[in-house]
Amino acid sequence: MSVLRPNLFRGSVAIVTGGGSGIGRAITYELLTLGCKVVIASRNAERLEKAAKELGEVGDVTSIPCNIRKEEEVQALISQALEKYGKLDFLVNNGGGQFMSPVESMSLKGWNAVVETNLTGTFLMCREAYNQWFKANGGSIVNIVADMWRGFPMMAHTGAARHAVVNLTQSLAIEWAEDGVRVNSVAPGMVESSTAAANYGKEANVFDVVKEYLPTKRTGVPDEVSSVVCFLLSPGASFISGTTIKVDCGSSLYTRLMWNIDNHDKLPAYQWIPKPKL
Ligand code: ADE
Repeated sequence: MSVLRPNLFRGSVAIVTGGGSGIGRAITYELLTLGCKVVIASRNAERLEKAAKELGEVGDVTSIPCNIRKEEEVQALISQALEKYGKLDFLVNNGGGQFMSPVESMSLKGWNAVVETNLTGTFLMCREAYNQWFKANGGSIVNIVADMWRGFPMMAHTGAARHAVVNLTQSLAIEWAEDGVRVNSVAPGMVESSTAAANYGKEANVFDVVKEYLPTKRTGVPDEVSSVVCFLLSPGASFISGTTIKVDCGSSLYTRLMWNIDNHDKLPAYQWIPKPKL
């Protein structure tokens, strides 16, 4: 069960990009359990459809394939969602992607692809949702960024793009306040998910290695992000806009050089979504 009130989002409609896997799937799952209707969108139509079938057991979910880098596809996504459900309350920009590489060997094509997906895609989604619905009706947007606060070595492209989304969040919160639109971001720390694992490759289990360097001595789980996203979308966050909430249990503040935290198990995961069978 979500920590939020049952039926909190009954009658509401959300679009979640990247809503079929990883953190996006957890967000979709929690929204559905709270009664929200959800449109999930991402590039891979087949995987998206499969996820929609599974999530359809939980609530009313529709999959619409969309490459968020493409203006016409984003415009079509928003209009199809509005056609289907007649309204839009929430937009969660979770869809993104990157690959590991030092800057010295990063191609311009690779750089542009990551910036276009993570920054331009978010811009296009926000603008279209606003122009087609939020401007006249209000709404709430949450952008998912990353733990890029102290730079993002080996992932400089996504670090730059996602920090830019933090600033975009601030600009939009001011530009759209008079229309009743709140815009916030969530910055997850090391959260273990299928999507994240694909990013980091299969050679070494990065999550096992990194645990030691986290204040929690464990990685996060997607449900720990979705609960914060749902809170930000909810009326409980009616006085929050333009902010970015770090969901990292302090990892962005911590370096072992400054302060050592011995191994402990005092911050166990609150995991209410069963782990998917692999
Ligand atoms: N997820 C990763 N890349 C994407 C893209 N270009 N469009 C939609 N979802 C994505």
